[in-house]
Amino acid sequence: MINRRTFLSASAAGIGLAVAAPRRLLAEDGAASFDLIAGPATAPLLGSEGPASALWAYGGISPGPVIRGRQGDLIKVRLHNNLPQPTSTHWHGIRIDNAMDGVSGLTQDAVPPGGFFDYAFVAPDAGTYWYHSHNKSWEQMARGLYGPLIIEERNPPPVDREMVLVIDDWRLGEDGQIHTASFGQMRDWSHGGRLGNWLTINGVSTPDLKVKRGERLRLRLINCANSRILNLKLGQLAPLLIALDGQPLAQPEEIGTSAVLTLAPAQRADLLLDVTLEPGEEAPLTEVSRKDGIVVGNFVSEGISASGQAGRELPVLPSNRLPEPHLSDPLKLDLVMEGGAMGGMRSAVFEGKSLSMRDLVARGQVWAFNGVAGMTENPLARIQAGRSVVLNIVNETAWPHAMHIHGHHFRAVARNGQPVDDGAWRDTELIGPDEAVTVAFVADNPGKWLIHCHMLEHQAAGMKTWFQVAG
Ligand code: C2O
Ligand code: CU
Repeated sequence: MINRRTFLSASAAGIGLAVAAPRRLLAEDGAASFDLIAGPATAPLLGSEGPASALWAYGGISPGPVIRGRQGDLIKVRLHNNLPQPTSTHWHGIRIDNAMDGVSGLTQDAVPPGGFFDYAFVAPDAGTYWYHSHNKSWEQMARGLYGPLIIEERNPPPVDREMVLVIDDWRLGEDGQIHTASFGQMRDWSHGGRLGNWLTINGVSTPDLKVKRGERLRLRLINCANSRILNLKLGQLAPLLIALDGQPLAQPEEIGTSAVLTLAPAQRADLLLDVTLEPGEEAPLTEVSRKDGIVVGNFVSEGISASGQAGRELPVLPSNRLPEPHLSDPLKLDLVMEGGAMGGMRSAVFEGKSLSMRDLVARGQVWAFNGVAGMTENPLARIQAGRSVVLNIVNETAWPHAMHIHGHHFRAVARNGQPVDDGAWRDTELIGPDEAVTVAFVADNPGKWLIHCHMLEHQAAGMKTWFQVAG
């Protein structure tokens, strides 16, 4: 497998590909419809010198094409399945009709090879979202099946340009191919998930991100990794954080030169960057989970923008007006996460039977919510539409988890029992070992909605459940 040294030498050798913006699929007004073909593809993940990597991709590229619409638009996508496996496509973070949520086995049947499925939904919220496979996602996403879903504000804040930066963490073999022999490896599933050895932005390792002094950019960062938590440092770029998981912050926050922006799998961040780099100067985007850090990409200044927006008055991103939960008499639910390596879980219920840890391992189930591994006949809760819900998520495992609730954004209202004021709206929350996070939301969207860890191996190995909202 490619090790860190290879990774570093690749960037030191200055493969230096410029990152291309993901291809854009639509910009039209009103109803936009198009075809999204999931199928085998190849991509130069190792750069132009290396062998091409065989992937599974949407539209022949990974990340898949940017699906772009405006707030309130009807978006229609016909998914064609040219893969050798059934698939479905989930629209992550966007609050849409349950029948369009793309969860195979819950909201639709998986689309068989050769088949198609018509998705159509109104995009209620502006922001940075994404789409990805939701059938055997631990394999299909590791092979490249994801892409950005960008919903523009009706009056977008003035910027000179935007950059969609899709970050992935691939596990490649020495031959530059997806390491398929380790799919389903229990050591990944019971530990931190499938961690890769090759970081890319928009499919390019250590790209040059070309900018000009004086430009104001909107960066849309998306973590599409199976399980890698990204701890990103932007150093001297010192951008402003303006939105998380698609939802604008009430107050933008400056990311200081030594601050770290954490993006758990599935999380997004919108940044406003006023470029102050002089022509010829560079500034790295670094992943700092390891002590010495890994450069993920380099912002390279290539000139001066005479008419750039940098330094102008800061724009305000309009709120998407999510329903505010009432905390006076909510439905209270608990979700206790257990299992995994070093977790001490002895048994859990799987498919209606109580099984010992050893029997669970034999079935690939090593994590549980409230003592139950995997999906159940009955939901965690049936909730009347419009009800406020307070969900207390307790992590009793030795691992962090990226908890995602489908169809709803939520706010943290307490962390380890301490009240949180004004928690940001999120659809995916990172919860550390021995941490408890209480989140609140209004269950306002009828249908069947998943709650799962977005570390895809954890999800596959038991960390998922669902709730039903009755209309
Ligand atoms: Cu982004 Cu159920 O997933
Ligand atoms: Cu997890």
